[in-house]
Amino acid sequence: MVKMDDIVSLCKRRGFIWQGSDVYGGMAGTWDFGPLGVSLKKKVMDAWWKYWVEDREDMYGVDAAIIMNPQVWQASGHTETFNDPLVECKECHNRFRADKIAEGVSEKVTTEEFKALGVKCPNCGKENWSEIKQFNGMFRTNVGVDPDNIAYLRPETAQGIFTNYKNVVDTIYPDLPFGLAQQGKAFRNEISPRDFIFRSREFNQMEIEYFVDPETWEEHFDKLLAGCHDFLEKMGLKPESIHELDVAAEDRAHYSKRTIDIEFDYPIGREELMGIAYRTDFDLGNIQRVSGKNMEYIVKGGGKRFIPHVIEPSMGVERLLMAILCTAYTEDEVNGEKRVLLRLSEDLTPYRFCVSPLLKNKPELVAKAQEVYDMLRKKYGNVTWDDSGNIGKRYRKQDEIGTPKCIVVDFDTLEDGTVTVRDRDTTEQIRVKPEEL
Ligand code: GAP
Repeated sequence: MVKMDDIVSLCKRRGFIWQGSDVYGGMAGTWDFGPLGVSLKKKVMDAWWKYWVEDREDMYGVDAAIIMNPQVWQASGHTETFNDPLVECKECHNRFRADKIAEGVSEKVTTEEFKALGVKCPNCGKENWSEIKQFNGMFRTNVGVDPDNIAYLRPETAQGIFTNYKNVVDTIYPDLPFGLAQQGKAFRNEISPRDFIFRSREFNQMEIEYFVDPETWEEHFDKLLAGCHDFLEKMGLKPESIHELDVAAEDRAHYSKRTIDIEFDYPIGREELMGIAYRTDFDLGNIQRVSGKNMEYIVKGGGKRFIPHVIEPSMGVERLLMAILCTAYTEDEVNGEKRVLLRLSEDLTPYRFCVSPLLKNKPELVAKAQEVYDMLRKKYGNVTWDDSGNIGKRYRKQDEIGTPKCIVVDFDTLEDGTVTVRDRDTTEQIRVKPEEL
């Protein structure tokens, strides 16, 4: 089983992911993506967009502002209920999320229940706890010059979809059922961000609000759930590492009548990768009540009118990236030496090919390699060049970042025009003409 430290160290070493504001000692719960990380993240997000929006006739995209009218969060219930149970150790004054340091309790754990469990402080080992306080997870800011003009950074992208539902119906009038999809940043003032990019204060979500006739919600819930499994497998995750958790009523978010969490076997244990929730007409009903605008959908051809119900598949980009990296990370042995490789699918790897001259100090090899490099870049775009160190070291580096094929221009290339193509997974080498790549 891959260890978390191996993934973190590879990501740092090779320029995938660094601690946010690293140069100033870091900023807890934030992460910066380097050249390779941003490439992987973008490919994953694009694959999701293609799968759920471009390849379907019933899905449309939106891209809403991050800072929204604060009424949004009052109507959605986030101002009141988007809380985590905060508890403080009265000995060392460290603060924790009570449900994360006690076994088998939900976010709704009470002080009495928590204290009865005999939990020891993870920092000092003592058992002297404060009362549990509800800590609201939204980041507050103020807009313009008035310090009382409070706004929040969105804690979920979903509300930017709900607030545009009417705009979409009024302009495009899609047939029901239809879905609206959005990707983008979400912010949560997590009490204890942890486990690398798993729980951060700033992260990306990919969410769909799928609007249905209330009588048909179960059928659409099942179809979307099946789509989620299919997408995750397309991202390279193994079915045996993916599990469904039917979330009990007392553990569900305030808006949900049914939630299935899709969990993944991470090195930190089995944890939530994404969720799919039946949000009923909770959000559109609230918007109608607070804004006074009618959120009903009129079925085309003079049919019935009602507020649609909503099924919401919601995925955190970073949690998916972590699952992809953990699945792809492999250690094996080549010629008696330990090797690390990322078995990413060709569609996700930061580079498709790496081109090298066998020797950097032979101008005729460098010139020919440059020609091959230019040709492949024109054809595929994501091709890298490496003439550092010896060829073995180059292979190790490309294996670690997942490059599927390394192309080497050597003296035979000058004779017969063929290059060596070395495969990342098998390490086998074949000779082909560059035009055939
Ligand atoms: N709109 C529904 C919603 O936001 P959620 O279960 O709170 O539901 C959805 O979040 C997904 O967002 C989670 O399944 C997870 O993938 C991701 N997520 C939530 N909090 C996160 C955090 N602090 N850091 C990274 N990802 C997070």
